[in-house]
Amino acid sequence: MKICVINGSPRGKNSVTLQTLLYLEKRFPAHEFDFLNVGAGIQSFERDMSGAVEAIRSAELLLFSYPVYTFLVPSQLHRFIELMKRSGADFRDIYVSQLSTSMHFYDITAHRFIEDNCHDMGMRVIHGLSAGMEDLLSPQGRKEAEDFFLYLIHCVEKGIYEPAPPALPSAPQNYVQSLEPGVKEGGFDTVIVGDLREGDESLRAMIKDFTALYPYKTRFVNIGDFEFKGGCLGCFGCTASGKCVYKDGFDSMLRNSIQNADATIYAFTIKDHSMGSRFKMFDDRQFCNGHRTLTEGKSVAYIINGDYEHEENLKTLLEARAQVGHNFFAGAGYDIPTMENTARRLAYALEHKYVQPRNFYGVGGMKIFRDLIWMMRGLMKADHQFYKSRGLYDFPQKRRGRMLAMCLVGALMRSSKDSGKMRARFNAGMMAPYKKVLERARPGK
Ligand SMILES: Cc1cc2nc3c(=O)[nH]c(=O)nc-3n(C[C@H](O)[C@H](O)[C@H](O)COP(=O)(O)O)c2cc1C
Repeated sequence: MKICVINGSPRGKNSVTLQTLLYLEKRFPAHEFDFLNVGAGIQSFERDMSGAVEAIRSAELLLFSYPVYTFLVPSQLHRFIELMKRSGADFRDIYVSQLSTSMHFYDITAHRFIEDNCHDMGMRVIHGLSAGMEDLLSPQGRKEAEDFFLYLIHCVEKGIYEPAPPALPSAPQNYVQSLEPGVKEGGFDTVIVGDLREGDESLRAMIKDFTALYPYKTRFVNIGDFEFKGGCLGCFGCTASGKCVYKDGFDSMLRNSIQNADATIYAFTIKDHSMGSRFKMFDDRQFCNGHRTLTEGKSVAYIINGDYEHEENLKTLLEARAQVGHNFFAGAGYDIPTMENTARRLAYALEHKYVQPRNFYGVGGMKIFRDLIWMMRGLMKADHQFYKSRGLYDFPQKRRGRMLAMCLVGALMRSSKDSGKMRARFNAGMMAPYKKVLERARPGK
């Protein structure tokens, strides 16, 4: 079978993910592999997509190979997908799948992003493989990769693929400003970070209306104007120094103009089910912050031009980002009523210093980070200091008293002849501390 591999890692030939594809190429010599290095060579595809279009169209199976980057795929791969879609080429009915490596931190949103875009192009999607970064190093990981490959070949040969989701209504792009800007109070530093470029009149109008609905003064940082030297290279150069290898002033812009605000409102137009490749570049480059939740306790909101209501993956992603960062998520405004509610929630959170505790998205995400930093603490020193000083290494083995109590309870329950009585005692014991809290509670304000 003719397989075209899109290597979306900015690390090019040094991509960890690519090694699995090279392994499969060796293990299954009857199949023909063709590699396109789009992550490291995106500039050449900007100039000319014809070779790539031909390679994809002549393949029987297209395979995206990439690292998960900040909930999605690297900005360079975002851009390549934009170029594929803009090329106008017919990719209908081509079988497509994906193989990623990551720490499994939001690999689901990355995979869904690829699938949604491939469905847009009428391709035949087969669910991909999300491998751990070191899986290929173990016999089990190699077997999983081989099994996945055999499954893929089977699906292509037998015509098995995922049903396409129902087509979404097209994104509204003709928003017209309708509100008068009022006089605003200071008091809270609110920054709007937008990707606003020539022709983005709808988003510009939405931002104006949002600022009219929001009671406090705002300032604007336009990443549409920022001269990025490029997307994150995944070189890990910043892990020791905290400084990016690019010298384009991004780190200081991030720290001095954005992260110091009390609240951040991101504004973008939905492109290809996400915030677009430029916004993604902005997100990926924040890797210079390591895994430190530097804006913890602050609030975030979004102004979104497009059909946000139907973008389930994007909704998950925005909530998850806020959850992991432990920010109050004031919501996303995409028309006057939703912008009004977002503005009100944001104002309340600032006025009352309100932030909810993390849910599964945040708790689960932080546990992955916790384990990663613990393992990498020799390299990621700033992250390690941050996690240590905040008591984030909450490994279960530290709660020895509780673990011992559970051993005793378990032994008693197993050995007791009267299991009903034991269960009642267990429940009474479990409820006792909560009862104490209720007994001590007094009416508040
Ligand atoms: C900028 C950046 C962002 C990353 N974001 C994530 C992430 O959101 N989730 C995750 O599990 N791993 C993340 N990683 C880790 C990579 O997915 C992982 O190291 C991957 O195996 C690298 O593959 P590659 O060598 O093919 O590029 C990130 C790494 C970088 C450099």
